[in-house]
Amino acid sequence: MMFYFSSSLAVVSILVAFLLHESNGQLNSTFYSNTCPNVSSIVSGVIQQALQSDPRIGASLIRLHFHDCFVNGCDASILLDNNGTIRSEKDAAPNTNSTRGFNVVDNIKTAVENSCPGVVSCADILAIAAEASVSLAGGPSWSVLLGRRDSRTANQAGANTSIPSPFEGLSSITSKFSAVGLNTNDLVALSGAHTFGRAQCRLFSNRLYNFNGTGNPDPTLNSTYLATLRQTCPQNGSGTALANLDPTTPDSFDSNYFSNLQNNQGLLQSDQELFSTTGSATIAIVNTFSSNRNCLLSKLRSVNDKYG
Ligand code: HEM
Ligand SMILES: *[C@@H]1O[C@H](CO)[C@@H](O)[C@H](O)[C@H]1NC(C)=O
Ligand SMILES: *[C@@H]1O[C@H](CO)[C@@H](O)[C@H](O)[C@H]1NC(C)=O
Ligand SMILES: *[C@@H]1O[C@H](CO)[C@@H](O)[C@H](O)[C@H]1NC(C)=O
Ligand SMILES: *[C@@H]1O[C@H](CO)[C@@H](O)[C@H](O)[C@H]1NC(C)=O
Ligand SMILES: *[C@@H]1O[C@H](CO)[C@@H](O)[C@H](O)[C@H]1NC(C)=O
Ligand SMILES: *[C@@H]1O[C@H](CO)[C@@H](O)[C@H](O)[C@H]1NC(C)=O
Ligand SMILES: *[C@@H]1O[C@H](CO)[C@@H](O)[C@H](O)[C@H]1NC(C)=O
Ligand SMILES: *[C@@H]1O[C@H](CO)[C@@H](O)[C@H](O)[C@H]1NC(C)=O
Repeated sequence: MMFYFSSSLAVVSILVAFLLHESNGQLNSTFYSNTCPNVSSIVSGVIQQALQSDPRIGASLIRLHFHDCFVNGCDASILLDNNGTIRSEKDAAPNTNSTRGFNVVDNIKTAVENSCPGVVSCADILAIAAEASVSLAGGPSWSVLLGRRDSRTANQAGANTSIPSPFEGLSSITSKFSAVGLNTNDLVALSGAHTFGRAQCRLFSNRLYNFNGTGNPDPTLNSTYLATLRQTCPQNGSGTALANLDPTTPDSFDSNYFSNLQNNQGLLQSDQELFSTTGSATIAIVNTFSSNRNCLLSKLRSVNDKYG
């Protein structure tokens, strides 16, 4: 489907955007064509293997790329562990007990090193893994720009403050995207990555029982969906129980995220606000991505042009 392909294109363009706007200079898709020509299939092969036992792993891997890129650019700083000088980004508020897939990244790195020792950066591995994950979940493929350098320092404080929280208002999230060169179109398109993967009850259960201190559920939540979510996340139940971010097609990379928002079936507050915030420019963008394929295409082309 054209639309479906296009929404994924937007995901592509954000990844490109990160690269051009952050510290890296000249990236290109042939960076390893002499030194590690098979790197993409090696990465994809390890992810395919991991998917056999963990259908969620692709979603977890693209999220790692996002959380890496929002903090000092796409430099694999999220992978650095605590040592005498480093306070790991893994322990930052948005990541702790939340980001996952580090073991699979290690397996990918080992496989790549076995074929091409000392050649491929970890930052590029995260970028390639994001593309492979979308493609393996039924989304499109794209040519990944490569040549990122890895950081030797982490920025835990930056991870705490730069990565958006699901409880944050739309205007604040918009500012955080703007701070890394991403506009409102980009925000809506990229939020569409919540078309697969899971979220823990603790990150949205306030919406089910006591939204914003009202003692009532979030009024923007579809009542049928509310009833389902209350079964998944009982009051005073485990905050670490999981719900699908996309209740319709949980493991597929498709466009249902946007029609879910139109049906008031966004899981996180930050998802539903894109469609339910009165007067917001994001409403029209959600509608466009959900229904008008030609319009979407041209918008995405302009986003793509803007970021190369
Ligand atoms: C717009 C602001 C965003 C907020 C507030 C947000 C927040 C969240 C939260 C709270 C979770 C659940 C984490 C957990 O349960 O531990 C999540 C999961 C996820 N996020 Fe986002 N996110 C945002 C944007 C993005 C973007 C831009 C991407 C990628 C392009 C992305 C990809 C994902 C994926 C794939 C998952 C599922 C991960 C898994 O199953 O392991 N998110 N996000
Ligand atoms: C890709 O970038 C690298 C590093 O900047 C450069 O050496 C190489 O020539 C570039 N390849 C192409 C096709 O531009
Ligand atoms: C590249 O990797 C794939 C999958 O791991 C493998 O089937 C293929 O033989 C490899 N090709 C080369 C040239 O190494
Ligand atoms: C901590 O890790 C970084 C990145 O690997 C490294 O450059 C640094 O030397 C390490 N510091 C210590 C004290 O081990
Ligand atoms: C992470 O989860 C573990 C196990 O449930 C818990 O003991 C710990 O307090 C959690 N850490 C944070 C920072 O929430
Ligand atoms: C980041 O947030 C975590 C969790 O709230 C906190 O423990 C840590 O001290 C913060 N790190 C920095 C550098 O501010
Ligand atoms: C939450 O409640 C405060 C007042 O108590 C109000 O100003 C604010 O708009 C509410 N937020 C939402 C998302 O409903
Ligand atoms: C949940 O816990 C609160 C406070 O501990 C209590 O007042 C409430 O009755 C509990 N609700 C359920 C459904 O168990
Ligand atoms: C609630 O979701 C269902 C699909 O499950 C949809 O048919 C219905 O229109 C939605 N209601 C509202 C008010 O969005």
